[in-house]
Amino acid sequence: MALPKVLSRSEDTRKQRTQLIKKTQEGLKVGPNQRSAETTPVVRYRGVKKSFGEVEVLKGIDLDIMPGEKVAVIGPSGSGKTTLARLLMTLERPSGGIIEVEGEPLYHKRVGEGLVPADERHIARVRSKIGMVFQHFNLFPHRTVLQNVTEAPIHVKKMPRRLAEEKARAMLEKVGLIEHIDKYPGQLSGGQKQRVAIARALVMEPKIMLFDEPTSALDPELVGEVLAVIKEIAEKGDMAMMLITHEMQFAREVADRVLFTDGGKIVEQGTPEEIFEHPKSERLQAFLARFRNGFGGGSQ
Ligand SMILES: Nc1ncnc2c1ncn2[C@@H]1O[C@H](COP(=O)(O)OP(=O)(O)O)[C@@H](O)[C@H]1O
Ligand SMILES: [Mg+2]
Repeated sequence: MALPKVLSRSEDTRKQRTQLIKKTQEGLKVGPNQRSAETTPVVRYRGVKKSFGEVEVLKGIDLDIMPGEKVAVIGPSGSGKTTLARLLMTLERPSGGIIEVEGEPLYHKRVGEGLVPADERHIARVRSKIGMVFQHFNLFPHRTVLQNVTEAPIHVKKMPRRLAEEKARAMLEKVGLIEHIDKYPGQLSGGQKQRVAIARALVMEPKIMLFDEPTSALDPELVGEVLAVIKEIAEKGDMAMMLITHEMQFAREVADRVLFTDGGKIVEQGTPEEIFEHPKSERLQAFLARFRNGFGGGSQ
């Protein structure tokens, strides 16, 4: 199997990126009217809340993700990580607050100074800038690998088949699956299926990719190949990423910034070093200690 080579991102590149992100975040403080195009976050959550029935599972999320930024999200089961991603993917609707994608409200339209609820067409258009990879791959079982990857470009983006196939092949090459393009999902390992799912999201050229515990449903021996592919994409691509993960070493190596969620809030955030070496809150310290003792697993 031809797996892409994993290159370790040089510390210099990461430092440069961190500085750039800090600068752009400082730039944001000047206020929306003076904001230049290059400092617009790819995604912005403002006071985002989500309740299921009586239970509020997100309690006011404020978060900016800058273009190209790789943000890891860690936190206990039930803390709201999946919901955070599903709201952005429009698989759930927020109960309150605003989400913006490249400065444009996802669930609202601007009318004069105000915002009104957006129609489905607007939501679908803005959402098309987001790609997501799920814990369970959700491939079409009766379509080949190539057909799975070309489905959305042909039917959603109305791309000519030939062009969609060309792009799909390039993506499948990237995830090391070019020799499997005519197989069906049932003929693939879990790791290969997840790599198809990654190629399927990539082919739509999203501005941000969301990964929701992409390796937690895999047999342990298959985790590495999937993490290697994600790492490669993170290092080579200029796409932003939100990586929800229980793989702490991976978060540390790939992320520019790590968020720790607990009880529906972002409790702490910082560079991988700040979060893993110098956790401030007791809750984060306890969470990391559970991992070190081998009790951190489990996912929803
Ligand atoms: N569709 C739903 N209906 C009711 N409760 C839900 C639904 N989805 C998530 N929840 C609840 O919301 C909380 C946060 O869930 P989730 O975002 O999946 O957390 P995490 O991904 O951090 O484990 C949990 O208590 C979960 O049971
Ligand atoms: Mg989850």
